[in-house]
Amino acid sequence: MIGLQWGDEAKGKIVDILTEQHDIVVRYQGGNNAGHTVVCQGQTYKLSLLPVGVLNPRVTSVIGPGVVVNPKALESEISMLAGRGVNVGQNLLISDRAHVIFPYHIAEEAAFERSRGNEAIGTTGRGIGTCYRDKIGRIHAMRVGDLLRPVSFKSRLKDVVDYKNTILKALTPGFEALDAEAIATEYLAHAERFKPHVTDTTSFLHKALANGKRLIFEGAQGSLLDIDHGSFPYVTSSNSSGSGLHNGSGVPERHLTKIIGVVKAYTTRVGGGPFPTELDNPTGEHIRKIGREYGTVTGRPRRCGWFDGVASSYGGRVSGVTCVAIMLLDVLSELDEIGICTHYEINGERTADFPSHVEDLAAAKPVYRMLPGWKQDISGVKKLADFPARARAYIDTIADLMGVPVTLLSVGPDREQTVML
Ligand code: GDP
Ligand code: IMO
Ligand code: MG
Repeated sequence: MIGLQWGDEAKGKIVDILTEQHDIVVRYQGGNNAGHTVVCQGQTYKLSLLPVGVLNPRVTSVIGPGVVVNPKALESEISMLAGRGVNVGQNLLISDRAHVIFPYHIAEEAAFERSRGNEAIGTTGRGIGTCYRDKIGRIHAMRVGDLLRPVSFKSRLKDVVDYKNTILKALTPGFEALDAEAIATEYLAHAERFKPHVTDTTSFLHKALANGKRLIFEGAQGSLLDIDHGSFPYVTSSNSSGSGLHNGSGVPERHLTKIIGVVKAYTTRVGGGPFPTELDNPTGEHIRKIGREYGTVTGRPRRCGWFDGVASSYGGRVSGVTCVAIMLLDVLSELDEIGICTHYEINGERTADFPSHVEDLAAAKPVYRMLPGWKQDISGVKKLADFPARARAYIDTIADLMGVPVTLLSVGPDREQTVML
């Protein structure tokens, strides 16, 4: 289950619904930059690092090797849920291979973002990119498994913190040096509590597959935020398209039977970077208001715009989706007409390809097909035949552009407001 746009496609809702048919829910990339909302029986849950499966006591939830883990954030998410009567218990497994986010990652990211001024990426400020950078760089990285070896962990952490303090002092005026001893004490205390959950999740998943268990993989972010395939450099630091599933979980793609791409019926984006179909006008504000488009993690207003068929279908091709779910259709119900971008015009040339260079994406002028709005409340629709003809025409246009069948339509945040096809 993979987002095909710039994130927040309502992946949380889909995974929650599909969890019923599965035994294991796996997160395999990203970290607590994600914010996945689940609404059921009048309750709203916002999950960040924990897989949506934790809401269902019957399933096992896995945080795979490709995820970056902030132990403090993980612990506060678990206690937030406990406070609401959801006990995560032994059903949560954390890969010993997953990398760990430290306070210096967050401080470094803040310094880098500041230094970019108007060109800041607009990150979530969670130390995601700096942690992945250390993972790829190898020298300063630490994994969950390292936290369970206190002696070597403490000595390595001291070296890393010394190095990071040097860098951070140079980057940040008045920077107060981080205390390696204090960080070690805090992280080892977290590790002691997490110990029962930490395991080789790759081996666990391989055995589960051999035993016929049903797995669902919960993508975070979206395909256009993918570090290799997205709108670089305005992306996140993991492979958030389908391409990250194998390396982030250790489960090869030949085990997948279905790849569901999730799109909004329009487009949103949080943070910086070009956004060809952005509506910086009252229509964009209307979508933001009706769709309650404010970031789950940072509370920032999301930038809103028309459905971008060039970007979303590219996301679908990169992720290899076999079908698509169209979400938040109800948000468009009051509009007189609705735009769908079918092509870009870049420097006078028309194209249906998503540009690889950020300057071309910034120069892209969307070519729209305008469709009449359906001007009718659809939030209670239960089957395809009950959608107004104009809404069906809108859905068909998106399906044509995506080139794969539509498997699910969503007309409201609640589980019940879902039409399965
Ligand atoms: P995710 O990051 O992909 O899981 O998406 P978010 O949870 O960040 O954002 C999706 C938002 O849309 C959440 O507030 C959901 O409760 C809400 N939502 C999901 N499906 C629908 C829908 O069909 N209609 C409306 N109006 N809201 C929806
Ligand atoms: P979910 O899983 C939307 C965006 C940030 C920023 C860029 C890089 O809820 O869809 P990062 O902190 O990852 O280094 O920020 O990516 N971003 C998201 N946007 N939904 C998300 O997650 C996002 N996670 C990161 O806003 O533009
Ligand atoms: Mg989100």
